[in-house]
Amino acid sequence: MDIAIEPEIAARTGSDPTVPELFRIGRVKNETEDTFTLQLLPVAETTRISFLPGQFNMLYMFGVGEVPISISGDPADTSRLEHTTRRVGVVTKAMGLLRPGDTIGVRGPYGSHWPVTEEDGRDVVVVAGGIGLAPLRPVLYHLMSQREKYRKIVLLYGARTPEDILYKRELERWRGKFDLEVQVTVDRGASGWRGNVGVVTPLVSRAPFNPSNTIALLCGPEIMMRFAVIELQRRGVPAERMFLSMERNMKCALGYCGHCQFGPLFVCKDGPVFCFDRIASIFNRGEI
Ligand SMILES: Cc1cc2nc3c(=O)[nH]c(=O)nc-3n(C[C@H](O)[C@H](O)[C@H](O)COP(=O)(O)OP(=O)(O)OC[C@H]3O[C@@H](n4cnc5c(N)ncnc54)[C@H](O)[C@@H]3O)c2cc1C
Ligand code: FES
Repeated sequence: MDIAIEPEIAARTGSDPTVPELFRIGRVKNETEDTFTLQLLPVAETTRISFLPGQFNMLYMFGVGEVPISISGDPADTSRLEHTTRRVGVVTKAMGLLRPGDTIGVRGPYGSHWPVTEEDGRDVVVVAGGIGLAPLRPVLYHLMSQREKYRKIVLLYGARTPEDILYKRELERWRGKFDLEVQVTVDRGASGWRGNVGVVTPLVSRAPFNPSNTIALLCGPEIMMRFAVIELQRRGVPAERMFLSMERNMKCALGYCGHCQFGPLFVCKDGPVFCFDRIASIFNRGEI
């Protein structure tokens, strides 16, 4: 059966968007007990690296399977890719065994992106939960590189425990160097933890930003995003300035198979980043 390939997809991934390109593992960094970051270097000289913050790749563990993983590295760095992954099942556990020099298949980048380049001059509130900080990290790199174009930048981040906080050193460095307001909360504290304990919603209610001139970017468990949206709305941030990254099971990432359907939308093509005003009517319906 012939499948018509949409030109923009073909352009992004070479002539056949279903065929992965080969990458070699550069560095492996253990971020937490169950989460690691892989640095991926292209094997072929012809492979180009270019993506927008918020996009994802399909990573193929040969002989095991393929999974969607957001790109977590710096969009200005065209020499390598970075992906931060939590071990949850068959493919991600196999990926966690990769070592420098091993190879992996990559196709992409796919999907929509965080809209920051169009939103200069505003306050930016970033709300992340758990591994949800990984898809937001490229946008934080972008914001830091263009710091003078934005007003307040606030990161509100919830993790399970202090040991589960991702990119700790980087967050501390950004806070000191780039005037980034970082507030972290954990579900369960530990001895020596002097920060917030509890869910992220109270941080949203207290955070220093001007709701009438704010763009909000959210990624994390849906229950967390649901409560954060309610609090952002209560503070007066309009639906058209809230953006959420959604996850659904994926197979093709090309809009063919329907596995990622979200109401009338496909997360792989229409998302993963959606403006809240586009999905508000389906976001609160658990069965979708
Ligand atoms: C657009 C997009 C971007 C993503 N970005 C990242 C990322 O940057 N880092 C990352 O670690 N993960 C990310 N994910 C989730 C990742 O794709 C899944 O964790 C992965 O597909 C699981 O595959 P597996 O074979 O290891 O687990 P499986 O063997 O398929 O599943 C093992 C267990 O995990 C559960 N599970 C499977 N998929 C998910 C999921 N999406 N969310 C929660 N539980 C799940 C299953 O229900 C099952 O209980 C993303 C998903 C999408 C759709
Ligand atoms: S993953 Fe196949 S249509 Fe989205």
